[in-house]
Formats: sequence, structure tokens, C-alpha cells
Amino acid sequence: MTKIKRISITWRSFLPVCYKEETNNKPSSPRSVLKPRLSLSDVSITGSPMSISMEDLSTSLVGSNLHIFTLAELKTITHSFSTSNFIGEGGFGPVHKGFIDDKTRPGLSPQPVAVKHLDLEGLQGHREWLTEVIFLGQLRHPHLVKLIGYCCEDEHRHLVYEYMPRGSLENHLFRKYGASLSWSVRMKIALGAAKGLSFLHDAEKQVIYRDFKASNILLDSDYTAKLSDFGLAKDGPEGDKTHVSTRVMGTQGYAAPEYVMTGHLTTMSDVYSFGVVFLELLTGRRSMDKTRPSREQNLVDWARPYLNDHRKLDRILDPRLEGQYSTTGAQKAAALAYQCLSHQCKSRPTMSTVVKTLELLQNFNDIPVGTFVYIAPLETTKEAEKQTEESKKGNGHQNRHDSHHRRGNRHRMRSPRSPTVYSSPSPNDSLTNATNSPRPSHEVKVV
Ligand SMILES: Nc1ncnc2c1ncn2[C@@H]1O[C@H](COP(=O)(O)OP(=O)(O)OP(=O)(O)O)[C@@H](O)[C@H]1O
Ligand SMILES: [Mg+2]
Repeated sequence: MTKIKRISITWRSFLPVCYKEETNNKPSSPRSVLKPRLSLSDVSITGSPMSISMEDLSTSLVGSNLHIFTLAELKTITHSFSTSNFIGEGGFGPVHKGFIDDKTRPGLSPQPVAVKHLDLEGLQGHREWLTEVIFLGQLRHPHLVKLIGYCCEDEHRHLVYEYMPRGSLENHLFRKYGASLSWSVRMKIALGAAKGLSFLHDAEKQVIYRDFKASNILLDSDYTAKLSDFGLAKDGPEGDKTHVSTRVMGTQGYAAPEYVMTGHLTTMSDVYSFGVVFLELLTGRRSMDKTRPSREQNLVDWARPYLNDHRKLDRILDPRLEGQYSTTGAQKAAALAYQCLSHQCKSRPTMSTVVKTLELLQNFNDIPVGTFVYIAPLETTKEAEKQTEESKKGNGHQNRHDSHHRRGNRHRMRSPRSPTVYSSPSPNDSLTNATNSPRPSHEVKVV
């Protein structure tokens, strides 16, 4: 096993190390992926992720093929983070499209990328950035978005991902204009996302994703779903432990009730969140929607009674499907959602069972013949650029105005867009025990 050099330093001493990286930015050499997977706690001596230097991080992740970019390189590839390259914004900060090739760095294959830029005034910070680098830097799967590299210079933090031309599921499912997703595409997305979660849960060193929601499911040109955003991910329980005790974090409307009540995190919490997203796919409604009448605002509470009643099921299915779905498929899908959303976490299926059920659901073709809407697959580069243009007009990805609106609402926790849930910390939570604050990004600056 790779020997890890550990140095305990404070945030102040951390800054020069980051700065040093600017001149020492060799990409990790392409060796085989590390086994076993390193945890956040493996790369720091004090248990605080602040105690790792960037040199240690790149040494620890040797073999993961992550590139360490300079800020200057990222400015070049995103045209100085220009508004024309802006594709959206979430809790971490703004996201810009860029293009890398071997002019950026010898050996890089030409491809579009998405560059996430940590908003220093935002809710998230170095911890989320580091968690993402450590988890996604080592995990590779067709249903996880690929992390290509990162940048850490002074206080700046960036993440560079493969570009997903169709943006997030959230943007597709809840947009007001444009063709709605067909039944078969919804089932394909559910299966892809379920495979991503199943991979995490069945890994030798289990991962609990903790933030499964429509905005974190990104779509490739052919609607292959990939999970993004590992900033809240946790290693699963070890030994004979049944759960991980942690501060409750995640997103209102998606987080499992027993996790919100107790802070006890298990893979079954992810299964519940999967059930919520699956219900969003079936109904076309958001998990929390304050614009609806009060009894319909919480999607699960409203829809649950209909899920195991075949005669009433069509009352909750997305009207934008215009009846174009398999009746048997819809009944089986509703039954699956019902199981995933069970109050009793032990009654929920594992994600590998969910995958098997969804694989069967792909084969229900008794869809009534109706209006045929053809959605052309996007050509990665040209079409994606066009989509960026559209996103700026508000059609595709999240536009800047909406993003700011959403981010403001995250703080106030009144958003119809499911803000992050925070609660008091558990003493056992190694990730968050440095702070009780819901603003970890600000806490890390004063360590
Ligand atoms: N790899 C990517 N390829 C293409 N678009 C992306 C990529 N990553 C993010 N985006 C887009 O950027 C926007 C912001 O994404 P981000 O993950 O930062 O926030 P979010 O998931 O919307 O919100 P939250 O902070 O609650 O997770 C989204 O609209 C998403 O579509
Ligand atoms: Mg996200």
C-alpha cells in the first residue's frame, strides 16, 4: 500500500503550499487506480481535512490520473470565466464550460469540460472541495461523472469535470418550456442513476452518497445518467457498526426521515432519496414545492397513498407524459417507489435490487401510440455550445439569475428547490466536528 506522508498544518501555513503548486503542477502519472480507496481521514493526521498539504494530496492520489491545473490554465480554457461560458451555479459556486486539449497540457485529449469555481462567499468550502477530490478522484464508473482534475491556488479552489451536454435532470424535468422527457427516457435515467448508487454501496469500501437529488444527476447526450457532487459523501460504517453517526446534512425533501431525526446514516438513507427522485420522475413534481396547495407541497406525503392503488395511480403521473407510458410498467415503477420510500429503512430494497427491478422495467413496451416527439442526440461539441447559448436564455442549464435566486433561497431554506438541511453536529462526525456552523467554507479559513 502507498505510504502516505502526513503533515499537520494550519490554514495559514496551508496557503503557501497551495501557492507552491502553481510552479509544481505536474499531473499525476497514469498508474493504476489505488486500492484500497483512501478516505478523508487517511490523508490527514489530526482527522481534520485542513491538515493535508496539496503536495500530500497529489501524492496520495497518484494513480488516479487527476490533473492539477493552474488558475491561469483554467482562465485560458474558460475565456477568463466569461459569461458566455457560464453554464450554471449551485451551492459550491459558478460553473463554466471550457475546452482542454494538448495545448493546455501535453497528453490531454481534446474535450469540453465543466469548471466549478468555489464561491468564497458561499456556503461550501475547502472541506467539500477536498471531499470531492478524494472520493471522485478515486472512484471511476460509467454512472459517476468523471473528475478530470482540480486547482488549488491561494484561497481559490476549482474542480474540472467531463462536460455533460444535457446538464442536470432537474433542468429537464422541471423546465417550463421544451419537450418533456418520455417514459422510456425517464426509466433509462432512473436505471443509470441507480447503477451509480449501487456501485457506491457495493464497493469494497462502501460509500454513502448523502446528496442524491435531481440537480446532482447529470445527463450525457444520450441521457446516460451520472452522479456528480460528492462534497457530502461519507465512508460507510466499518466493522460491525450498523450506521455512521453524523451531522444531518443533505437536502430537504430528499433526506430520509430516520436520518433527519437521528443523524444515523446508512445506505438506506440513499435508497430513500432515490425513491424521492424516482417519484419526481414519475410525477414531474419537485420533492418540495411551496407554490402548491399545502397538502401537495411535500411530494412524498402527497403521492404515497396513490402509489399502491392501481386505480388512482394515473392521478399522480406527470400530465406531460400525456398518457404515453406502459400501464404495467407504471404500476411496477410505483410499487418500487413505494418500497424505497418506506418509513422503515429495513423494508427498503438495496440499490442492487432496485437496479434489477429497473432493468425489467426497461422492457415494458405497451405504451399507447400517440404524438411522436423526436429528440435528436446532441453532438458533443457544436450542439453543446448551442446549448450553452440556450442556457443563457434560460432554456437549458440553470441561468445566472435563477442560480442567484436559488442560492439566496438555500440560505433561507424556503426554496421550492430543496435547500440543504443542517442540524446540530454529532460528536462522532469526523468531517464536521470542527464546526457547528452551517457555513463550513467560512470556518476553514480561520483554523
Ligand atoms: N460536469 C458538468 N457538465 C455540464 N454541466 C454541469 C456539470 N456540472 C454541473 N453542471 C451544471 O452546473 C449547474 C450547477 O451545478 P452544481 O452541481 O454546482 O449545483 P447544483 O447541483 O445545481 O446545486 P447543489 O449545490 O444544490 O448541488 C447545474 O445546472 C448543472 O447542470
Ligand atoms: Mg450539484
